[in-house]
Amino acid sequence: MIDITALTTNDIAFAVSMTDAEKWGYTAEDFRRLISIEPQGCFIARENGMEIGLVTSTSYDNFGFIGSLIVKESHRGHSVGELLMRQAIECLHDKGVVTIELDGVFPALSLYRRLEFTDKYLSLRFKRLPDKNVKYKEGKSSLFSVDDIALYDLAATGLPRQHVLNTYAAEFERILFTAGNYKCKGFALVRSRAGEAMAIGPLVADSDKVAEKILSDILDRFGQRQLTIGVPAVRPEFARVLLSRGFIYTQPSVRMYRGPRREYENHIHAIFSAEKG
Ligand SMILES: CC(C)(COP(=O)(O)OP(=O)(O)OC[C@H]1O[C@@H](n2cnc3c(N)ncnc32)[C@H](O)[C@@H]1OP(=O)(O)O)[C@@H](O)C(=O)NCCC(=O)NCCS
Repeated sequence: MIDITALTTNDIAFAVSMTDAEKWGYTAEDFRRLISIEPQGCFIARENGMEIGLVTSTSYDNFGFIGSLIVKESHRGHSVGELLMRQAIECLHDKGVVTIELDGVFPALSLYRRLEFTDKYLSLRFKRLPDKNVKYKEGKSSLFSVDDIALYDLAATGLPRQHVLNTYAAEFERILFTAGNYKCKGFALVRSRAGEAMAIGPLVADSDKVAEKILSDILDRFGQRQLTIGVPAVRPEFARVLLSRGFIYTQPSVRMYRGPRREYENHIHAIFSAEKG
């Protein structure tokens, strides 16, 4: 008998053990944040009381994102993944979400296609190994408040992500990067991942040039750490910039959507994360 219930803070150790097994680099804080942002939108599957899988969702008004879908290896191939996905989809629909997106790894694409997700574009992944010559610099990089950044983000993407940006900014105040003197022209958030790694994203900017300037500031500050970033394949110029700055390709995913297709990527140079869009 399989039960699906809301993922709670009591389940975080299990959730991290699952993402560790997949080498996804999630921390306990990542799940604490996902649960605090969407308390009823993250789910755990149990069979006879034993944890066997999880999924998370995030909603931005009528747009939603599903991520962190994992089923214990011993229980794969018995529709637990599909059950978890259906639960997350239903939950998002109940909140008024009409378009759902996700980043799917290649082996899972047939599952997502079965669930009526359609391919949108390749979601490229890059990493950059630590550069020992860069010394960490303290300092605040953002000239703008989180409110200013959320307004910029809303204008640039149409996605009301202020609640999520607030949660991150409260935790990681010193790692917001912005461009522009009087008017915000772009921003990026850089957050800790498991180990010493850091993830860049979202990176939203008026142009590739502005995005490159923000990237340079990030490399000056955090180049001594391993860095990861996810870039929509619709930004080939920015992908080239990353390659020229020492990033290398890792395995891409496929960005997929369910419901009406929504175009909001004009200024998005890096995604928030694999599980939040
Ligand atoms: C993807 C995953 C959650 C599916 O769970 P599941 O309970 O086995 O799923 P179901 O039984 O409902 O459906 C089986 C589907 O899983 C997918 N799948 C099979 N093996 C897989 C693997 N090693 N990795 C990813 N997906 C796989 C296939 O799409 C399969 O559908 P198919 O039989 O039509 O090819 C599970 O394989 C898993 O945890 N994989 C590792 C983590 C991962 O890759 N998550 C997806 C991130 S986008």
